[in-house]
Parts: sequence; structure tokens; C-alpha cells
Amino acid sequence: MEESSYTHWEQLAAFHGTGDDHMYDLDALIAGGSLMGPEEQAAIDRATQGRGVADLDVLHLQCHIGCDSITLARLGARVTGVDFSPTALARLDDLARQCGVDVTTVKSDSRDLPRELDGSFDLVYATIGVLCWIDDLDAWMSGVARVLRTAGTLVLVELHPLLTMIDSVEPLVLDFPYAFDGGHVYSGTGSYANRDADITWTTTQYAHGLAEVVMAATRAGLTMTYLEEHTSMSFDPRGMEETVEELDGQYRMRIGLGAVHGETQDRAFPLPVLFTYLGVREP
Ligand SMILES: C[S@@+](CC[C@H](N)C(=O)[O-])C[C@H]1O[C@@H](n2cnc3c(N)ncnc32)[C@H](O)[C@@H]1O
Repeated sequence: MEESSYTHWEQLAAFHGTGDDHMYDLDALIAGGSLMGPEEQAAIDRATQGRGVADLDVLHLQCHIGCDSITLARLGARVTGVDFSPTALARLDDLARQCGVDVTTVKSDSRDLPRELDGSFDLVYATIGVLCWIDDLDAWMSGVARVLRTAGTLVLVELHPLLTMIDSVEPLVLDFPYAFDGGHVYSGTGSYANRDADITWTTTQYAHGLAEVVMAATRAGLTMTYLEEHTSMSFDPRGMEETVEELDGQYRMRIGLGAVHGETQDRAFPLPVLFTYLGVREP
């Protein structure tokens, strides 16, 4: 485990959802709302062929403070939230109590999931900002395949590697590779959910190209049933300016020809910002 990233996640788990960020509206969640995005909902619908998660065993991998764990439990799933951050899991336990739902929490590194979980889940759900912390993608995928039942599905909705390359659109600055080349150390302040938060951090992050993700899943024994590269999304994932909210309420990243604002926006083509991967565990 990269100690710096662990410390970072402990900090963010303590900060998110305390009323000072634009992503984790726990009051709305406790009042019965859902913070799950339409992209994740669509992926679950597709994975379950519209049947939903009721009565399914779902592992929410790298669940953070567990907002989507709560939503999945409310939809009738038996949910296990896994994260390496004890603070995140304590927040999830507390949130589950406040929401009146049962969620099991397991502290584990996602590259080394406990053997007791093997063959236990119909779905593994992992979304938005999970893979860049992982050096060994094969270890991550083989753990996922191991904990799935035969015919169980990995639902992975993740930032597109092209988006993660980009530090700024104007001027165009790339500060991350497209594909894996080892760890990249970054330092900064704030959180993706509040850029001004009083948090100072150093992390190590890893690039994984789309083909690398798909091939790691295939090597682990998953058969891809769906892959989508989204050129728009419903939210601003990093609180930066590389994606811009447009008139239809969708966020896009456009490069070229006067770029993003105003009447020239239709002359610059949107790049992929998110991808959805579904893979089924073979017997
Ligand atoms: C960006 S968050 C995931 C956000 C989540 N989808 C949400 O909606 O809040 C990434 C999570 O991965 C966890 N994490 C990072 N590296 C990990 C590892 N090696 N094993 C387990 N959890 C890890 C962090 O603690 C953090 O909670």
C-alpha cells in the first residue's frame, strides 16, 4: 500500500459529507434520496437486464463513505462495502444506522480481497476514481473475479483515461500518461469535492489505458458483455475546469477551435470522459 495515498483517503473520508463539499449531500441521502449518478444506474440496469439489485449480493468495492452502498441496500441488495480506509467504513456504518439499512463493512486492500469472500457476490460494483490508486491491475481484477459467483458481473464505471491525462484544456496541459508506466507522485491541497478544503496531500497514482483495463479483466476470467466510452457525463468529477457544464446540463471536455464556451462550442468535438465496462465471470 502507498502510505501517502492511504493517509489522503483517511483525510477525505473524515471530510466528505460534513456539509462542506458539493458531492456528498448526506442530509439528502438520509432523507431518502440517492446520490448515485445516472451512468451508474444505467450500468446496473444493463447488468441486471432491468431486474435491479433486489435480493442480489453486491460488493461495493472501494466504497468510500458508502453513499451508493446505502442506495443499493435500499433497492433490496445485500451489500458489503469494502475499502482500506477504516474512517470511510466507520462513516458508512454510521450512515447505514441513520438510514436504517443493513450494510456489512470489510476493511481490505482491493488488490488482496479476503478469501472468505470468494464466490459470494452476484455483482461487484466499483465506480468513479477507483483504478488510479491501483498499481497491480491484475491483482485487482483477479480478486474481483474470485469474489464473484459464476455468471456474476463486474460493474465498473470509471473516469476515462483520456480525461485523467488532462491537467488543463486551455492551455492544453497533460500531466498523466494514458497507459501504465508506474507510479506518479502528486502533491496538492483540497478535495475533488471542494477544491478549497483545508487539506494538504501527497498521493501516488497509476494510469491504466482502456485496453489495459479490458485485458486485465479478460486475463482474470471475465467476459466483457458491454463497453461504452461516454463523451458526456452528468457531473463534474474532479472539480476542475477541464469539463464544462453545457446547456443540456451535461459536462463535456472539448478541445480545439476556441474550445469550450459560448457559440463556438459545437465546433469542438467532445472527448471521452467516462467509460462503463461490464464483465461476467465464466464458470
Ligand atoms: C474516489 S473514492 C471512490 C468514490 C466512490 N465511488 C464514491 O462514490 O464515493 C476511492 C476509494 O478507494 C479507496 N481505496 C484506494 N486505494 C485502495 C486500495 N488499495 N484498497 C482499498 N480501497 C482503496 C479509498 O479509500 C477511497 O474510499
